[in-house]
Amino acid sequence: MNSARPFTYSGTNLTCDGVSLSSLAEEFGTPLYVYSAAQISARAALFQQAFAAHAHTICYAVKANSSLAILKMLAAQGCGFDIVSGGELARVIAAAGPEVAGRVVFSGVGKTAPEMDAALAAGILLFNVESEPELELLAARAQLAGKKARIALRVNPDVSAETHPYISTGLSAHKFGISIKLARQVYARAAQHASLEPAGVSVHIGSQIRQVEPFAEALAKTLALVTELRADGHNIRYVDAGGGLGIEYADKPFDAATQVAQYATALQTALGTMQVHLLLEPGRFLVGQAGALLTRVLYRKQNGDKRFVIVDAAMNDLIRPALYQAHHEIVPVVLRDNAATEEVDIVGPVCESGDFFARARTLPQTEDGDLLAILDAGAYGLSLSSNYNTRLRPAEVLVESTGPRLIRRRETYEELFAPEIP
Ligand SMILES: Cc1ncc(COP(=O)(O)O)c(C=O)c1O
Repeated sequence: MNSARPFTYSGTNLTCDGVSLSSLAEEFGTPLYVYSAAQISARAALFQQAFAAHAHTICYAVKANSSLAILKMLAAQGCGFDIVSGGELARVIAAAGPEVAGRVVFSGVGKTAPEMDAALAAGILLFNVESEPELELLAARAQLAGKKARIALRVNPDVSAETHPYISTGLSAHKFGISIKLARQVYARAAQHASLEPAGVSVHIGSQIRQVEPFAEALAKTLALVTELRADGHNIRYVDAGGGLGIEYADKPFDAATQVAQYATALQTALGTMQVHLLLEPGRFLVGQAGALLTRVLYRKQNGDKRFVIVDAAMNDLIRPALYQAHHEIVPVVLRDNAATEEVDIVGPVCESGDFFARARTLPQTEDGDLLAILDAGAYGLSLSSNYNTRLRPAEVLVESTGPRLIRRRETYEELFAPEIP
């Protein structure tokens, strides 16, 4: 069993940090996301400790799970944030107050002028610029606002990392970043703008990467560039090593502390004695295993020799299996004595064949009304959800030391229709 999860059986009942998931489903309904505050905070602490020897800031990647309660908790623990939109900027400020802006880095290939203006007004730490036209627009917006924008170019190091092609970003074939070979001349151009201050270099090679070597390789290439840029006269203080550290989704042993330690050692070895303030953007690693999606079995059905379990959660609630063919362990919330196992497809009610959580999965036999927990759903779960099929998105509960707390109530149809003009 993957013991890195906060979800464990107490007798026959699945719990999150000791709280019965059946009782949460009873109280708050399903589909329901449940997160362990203790695990999120422990993962952030692991990162902070692993890099303690080096000046650093953990800039949690908001896109992984952007719940205000989780952002607030991480901010209180000293984390900053990696944002990719004006909406995420508004979120981190709503969660942690305007002073958090000093710990915010802004990534993304398509920043708009209004988003830049908001980030300039907030006074964020660093813009991770991903193209020359973006650099020119930022220079113009900063000049208009009478501000100097600290920038890092997000360089594309042409490093290959083993992960799903949709979440790999560090090859020159990808849309992300500026070729590392061209970076020096772009920094030179940036320095000519009085409204820009080249202050860092950033790199991010992808997501769900389990091997630490590609991170070290990308950082080494980035640091070589830092040396050149400093020789060119740029005052480069920040190196943003991005996010992407993976977790174990299968039922295999996983030791989070060892994984972070290996990652930190690889990065710090690449850094050597170089004096830089390291920025780290973990997302999935902090929140992925802390969350589960609870769902209730609606119907069981047989089509030919295929058996389906139809549940009340769907691809609009958790799209990872449909989008990335991602594997999530699925377990019964209440274990039955001597339940026989069967091979089933676990599917949702949405009108798409891609609406599945697992295919040909061997599970203990279920009955209508049974609860299932889809594990490791804390990252890219609710944050990637939608209202497709006019479905209300799941509610969210955070299990804290003081007990479970509803952190997002279920939507209503009125709220869904509110922006529409019939
Ligand atoms: C620029 C950037 N930083 C950080 C992350 C977080 O990645 P992860 O959740 O895999 O740590 C992403 C996600 O793709 C990203 O694009």
